[in-house]
Amino acid sequence: MDIKSAIQQAALPEHIAIIMDGNGRWAKEKGESRIVGHYEGVVSVRDIVEGCGEIGIKYLTLYAFSTENWSRPKAEVDALMELMVSTIRKEAEHLKKNNVRLKLIGNITDLPEICQKEMQEGMDITEGCTGLTLILALSYSARWEIVAAAKKIAKDVLNGTITEEEINDAYFGKCLTTAAFPDPELLIRTSGEHRISNFLLYQIAYSELFFTDVHWPAFRKKDLYEAILNYQQRERRFGMTSEQVKP
Ligand code: IPE
Ligand code: IPE
Ligand code: MG
Repeated sequence: MDIKSAIQQAALPEHIAIIMDGNGRWAKEKGESRIVGHYEGVVSVRDIVEGCGEIGIKYLTLYAFSTENWSRPKAEVDALMELMVSTIRKEAEHLKKNNVRLKLIGNITDLPEICQKEMQEGMDITEGCTGLTLILALSYSARWEIVAAAKKIAKDVLNGTITEEEINDAYFGKCLTTAAFPDPELLIRTSGEHRISNFLLYQIAYSELFFTDVHWPAFRKKDLYEAILNYQQRERRFGMTSEQVKP
């Protein structure tokens, strides 16, 4: 049986989040500049979006640029911004044809105007799509998001929209940039680092974590399907005992 048909449809994660890491190392190993790695990374994005669509994943969140990534050399940041603009410009119609709806999370107003404009167009073009929702995390960090939510909630209490007693998990979740999406059941990080790097800290409270040494530009559908198969072999207990959660 091939790896794709081994996946149990009934136990698919609804939402997969990926920390796409290792573009620079992949390029270095090939004697190329880091930018070449970022360009190759786009090929992987295309393949993984297609792979998610093929098996019926509903939400895919890709960590494309973190708040901390603004500290990289200016030439690399500029190249990444240009790459995002040209990729969305090229891919928006293709996404629409494949019924993929594009969404963004992050401090979008920090992005160059042209990038904001292209992203908005991409979202507008794909608005009515009902297949996979592709969420790009751009200029995103979890602490930025959590602090923004805390400020919003403080205002809501001050102006009487809610009372302190009404603040709970669900309310907090609705104040995050991911309010419209379920929490990811599976978080994948490529390229061997075992850390979260300020990604979705609130939402991954009970996600299954999968780490692979494969660099992002080399990550393909078969690697995604392997991660899903691994996820499907796990027992998710949510604090209960094994006996309680066994079907
Ligand atoms: C991930 O690859 C892409 C971004 C963070 C934008 P890196 O650029 O972090 O590649 P490495 O980790 O240096 O190899
Ligand atoms: C995390 O990768 C951010 C993205 C994948 C966009 P980094 O390469 O920036 O993470 P650190 O700095 O090694 O933790
Ligand atoms: Mg990295």
